[in-house]
Amino acid sequence: MKPTTGFATIDWRGDVLILLDQRKLPVEETYLHCADWQSTAEAITEMVVRGAPAIGITAAYGVVLAARAADGPLEDALAPAFAGLAATRPTAVNLFWALDRMKARLAAVADGPVAEARAALDAEARAIQAEDAVMCTAMGRHGAALLPEGARVLTHCNAGALATGGDGTAVAVIRRAWRDGTLARCYADETRPFLQGARLTAWELDRAGVPVTVITDNMAGWLMAEGGIDAVVVGFDRVVANGDAANKIGTYALAVLCKHHGIPFYFVGPTSSIDPASADGAAIRIERRPDREVTHVGPTRLVPEGVPVLNPAFDVTPAALIDAIVTERGVMRAPYGPAIAAQLADVGPGERRS
Ligand code: MRU
Repeated sequence: MKPTTGFATIDWRGDVLILLDQRKLPVEETYLHCADWQSTAEAITEMVVRGAPAIGITAAYGVVLAARAADGPLEDALAPAFAGLAATRPTAVNLFWALDRMKARLAAVADGPVAEARAALDAEARAIQAEDAVMCTAMGRHGAALLPEGARVLTHCNAGALATGGDGTAVAVIRRAWRDGTLARCYADETRPFLQGARLTAWELDRAGVPVTVITDNMAGWLMAEGGIDAVVVGFDRVVANGDAANKIGTYALAVLCKHHGIPFYFVGPTSSIDPASADGAAIRIERRPDREVTHVGPTRLVPEGVPVLNPAFDVTPAALIDAIVTERGVMRAPYGPAIAAQLADVGPGERRS
């Protein structure tokens, strides 16, 4: 199916996975071909592809590539691929959700012919991607309904078509509000250090004709104090049972700023990004990424040689700072524990890991 965004973040051709290389955007639109699970795992680690749902979808296709290359019974043969793909990035729960779903599919067909098991895995990965696109549309609809007329919305990182199988989570809300005529402008935090906002959100919204202005991360407080922001809308990598939410580093600071200025703060993500098995945010493993992402921009060194830096890729926003969590199933408000339990109880067995 041709994406409505005009570019394919994840393009499965049946024997090769083609990924839009997000490290090169916006300067170059180039595509990386992955023909085995190892190169697929490397593409996730290196952030050729990134964003919680996109990571899960990519890993599912990595399993399909491993199955195509495997000899003999698949359950044993695929164990290294499942382990290798799971070791790529720790914070977004969609990776583990998608791998669990692929494992469950494999277990259901493992006693049959290998060719049929391969076909079943291929179909499961395609379903994960297709269902994600449908969820994005629903999130866009639910989230856009929260915004006022003439909304000026700040977003952080990239929670768009580059991060999902559809037109995004938070960015689906922004795209939908623009189509509905309620969005005046999107402000995109540049999102140091990997610059997903400046490079990726600005690229995809500009392409879609949505008015977007990039600000550096430390301008958000000033813009709010000036009365320039009506809502902050971001994606999430993992929401846990009590509603605490992990997202790109800097999200927590925005939520605190929103509380101070009385601006609504909304998280948007699919139920596949919810981890009901973790009680609260303290259970979320925060990925530490290479120092070089902080010490350099491209080839240029910014930090003196030998000076230590920190590079946590995510932070956790406590549930108490969140005005609503939007999924494909609707809008949740505090108290989030029961709201999350109720939404997940309603999700069919094929849609979530058991
Ligand atoms: O490190 P990244 O670029 O994978 O981080 C992505 C984010 O933090 C997104 O906001 C999150 O995955 C939600 S996107 C649908």
